[in-house]
Amino acid sequence: MNNAELYHRNNTIQKRDVLQCLEEYGKRIKWKNGRITVIDIGCGDGTVTTSILKENIPNSIERLVGCDISKNMVQFANEQYANDHISFMVLDIEGDLPNELRGNFDYAFSFFALNWIQNQEVAFTNIYDLLSEGGECFFVIVSHQPMFDVYRILSRSTKWKLWIKDVERFISPYHDCQDPEKKVEQMMMAIGFTSVEVECLQKTYVYPNLDAFKGTVTSINPFEIPKDLEEDYLLDFYNVFRDIHAVDHASSDVDGPIKVTFNYSCDKSEKMIKYANEHYANDHTSFMVLDIEGDLPNELRGNFDHAFSFFVLHWIQHQEMAFTNIYDLLKIEGECFLVFVAHTLLFEGYRILSRSTRWKFWLIDVERFISPYHDCQDPEKKVKQMMKSIGFTSVEVECLQKAFIFPDLDALKGFVTSINPFQIPKDLEEDYLLDLFNVLRDLRIIDCASSNVDGPIKATLNHSLIVAKGRK
Ligand SMILES: C[S@@+](CC[C@H](N)C(=O)[O-])C[C@H]1O[C@@H](n2cnc3c(N)ncnc32)[C@H](O)[C@@H]1O
Repeated sequence: MNNAELYHRNNTIQKRDVLQCLEEYGKRIKWKNGRITVIDIGCGDGTVTTSILKENIPNSIERLVGCDISKNMVQFANEQYANDHISFMVLDIEGDLPNELRGNFDYAFSFFALNWIQNQEVAFTNIYDLLSEGGECFFVIVSHQPMFDVYRILSRSTKWKLWIKDVERFISPYHDCQDPEKKVEQMMMAIGFTSVEVECLQKTYVYPNLDAFKGTVTSINPFEIPKDLEEDYLLDFYNVFRDIHAVDHASSDVDGPIKVTFNYSCDKSEKMIKYANEHYANDHTSFMVLDIEGDLPNELRGNFDHAFSFFVLHWIQHQEMAFTNIYDLLKIEGECFLVFVAHTLLFEGYRILSRSTRWKFWLIDVERFISPYHDCQDPEKKVKQMMKSIGFTSVEVECLQKAFIFPDLDALKGFVTSINPFQIPKDLEEDYLLDLFNVLRDLRIIDCASSNVDGPIKATLNHSLIVAKGRK
């Protein structure tokens, strides 16, 4: 995303969204009397800074500074838009802040830039430090975007993994976050901001044609794709984008309008915790929402003699993170005991349906819901090595082969529905279960006494389980 000319030609969405946000939320900014100083962080080519931001500032401006980490962007912006009051400079908002900038601005803005930054605390602290007493800031940050899922999916493909490296660095730190509003709000308050207001908006953009879509993808693409593979990359990108149902086509004709929807995933865990608290909490037992793959609250660290987890850890792709958090939850000498799925053909069933024309729109991002050990030759060794490298001692890991026989089809359906991770519309649920049932039968997971699905069936679900134990 270093090519200023390319970005300049393809930033229609950014211009539209910044304008809408300033029109709708800009009224909440308290403008000081008199001439003001303004900084725009991650200004890119400078178009938004000069043609959208500046035009929506009611005061007269003493100094408007655009800053960006990219020299190319800054050079382009200076050539196109600099004048006596407007200038552009290179600045990494995630780095050390030059002293001469501290406390220098009445207002700080940033549009579509802070989502590129992994160390959010540093960037937000720098923004706080840029502001003068009583100064205000206003940001637009991408939290969840299906393009980030496409980066992840392509980064795992044999064809693109050489070029799509270090993929998590380019994914918004809020992409997988259940409650980005709360997270940003808490962080800003902890830094010292007051009157904090954070809102999460759902946005849709309709591209006039495939070329416009490709333009956006290329102009913000953070990966070094060789020139001769670019067209191929864009097509694969588009196909995955369509497969994960991020694109809503008027027809299957790719030259038609493309509607892109930015969805938020729904959080079931809060409902689980509410149910558990309502049914089982007492003086000694309580339930809380916690993402074991996320940041561990300090008050939980070193707090437990024992940590157990049953049938959870196979849902987690960042195994090191989860196991490190479990380690950190334990007191010295504390022990953990963990049971999770390594391999089951049910995961193959998900994969097969996710490739079918009928279900691919609903079985989105299927690999996220497949145990990271499903295709692994030696899961015992892998888990053992990881636990030891984290610091666990007395590590014992075993992989057990298990089979469960369901008495009838309803019991199998009940089981599959209760652990189904995909958002299948209510009216398609029965159909989905039947198709999954057929795939499972083809995979010989299910043994039917007769081929008649209404007749008695004997469904044996074979799976391998990891049982792991370790001490801090
Ligand atoms: C999508 S562009 C947005 C540009 C402009 N704000 C707009 O809305 O059109 C994101 C910009 O953030 C810049 N950026 C990324 N990381 C940055 C950092 N650490 N410090 C400053 N700018 C950064 C990129 O170079 C890029 O120009």
